[in-house]
Amino acid sequence: MIFTVAIDGPAAAGKGTIGRAVAARFGFRHLDTGLLYRAVGVQGGDPAQAARDLSPGDLARDDLRTLEAGQAASRVAALPEVRAALVDFQRRFARSEGGAVLDGRDIGTVICPEAEVKLYVTASPEVRAHRRWLEVGGDEARVLAEVKERDARDMGRADAPLRPAEDAVVIDTSEMGIDEAVELACAIVSTRLGGRD
Ligand code: DC
Repeated sequence: MIFTVAIDGPAAAGKGTIGRAVAARFGFRHLDTGLLYRAVGVQGGDPAQAARDLSPGDLARDDLRTLEAGQAASRVAALPEVRAALVDFQRRFARSEGGAVLDGRDIGTVICPEAEVKLYVTASPEVRAHRRWLEVGGDEARVLAEVKERDARDMGRADAPLRPAEDAVVIDTSEMGIDEAVELACAIVSTRLGGRD
């Protein structure tokens, strides 16, 4: 069975948690596509070359979740050569046998416009910054500034900007617990799966 769940949205909206939970519930594979850009961003040197040479080991580095890696990822993600080098891998993953969940910024719009389910998970910048601050600590105002800077870059770039696909279901987690958001996402997937055969 080929079945793709595309989950897009800004940083710290809950995409990753929802993506992992949906994948576990339905036995699908899960790809956090932000990790690809983070791995390229922390590499240094020529980002396009780093994207072409990316290996599974690069994705296992333990410094990919930092704020700095997120900023570096957002910067290299604006380069068309970097995005182009990562397209095939993501497309193959999305359409691989057995079902796949991918979370990122352009999954429903560019990587897999034919995805069976498209979700756009979002929340206010303040709520997202607070969540991120609970994970990373430090100065909350700085975390909020980073979130807003990354949003502006990811939404404003010319190539594959962050935006909801026209047929995406928007899930706003500003005032929703993560369990509720997961149940909502699973219900949407379940309905779509049920309607297939
Ligand atoms: O989801 P994340 O915070 O790990 O993503 C880090 C950065 O990578 C994000 O700010 C923009 C970029 N990115 C992207 O451009 N396209 C994707 N599909 C995933 C991430």
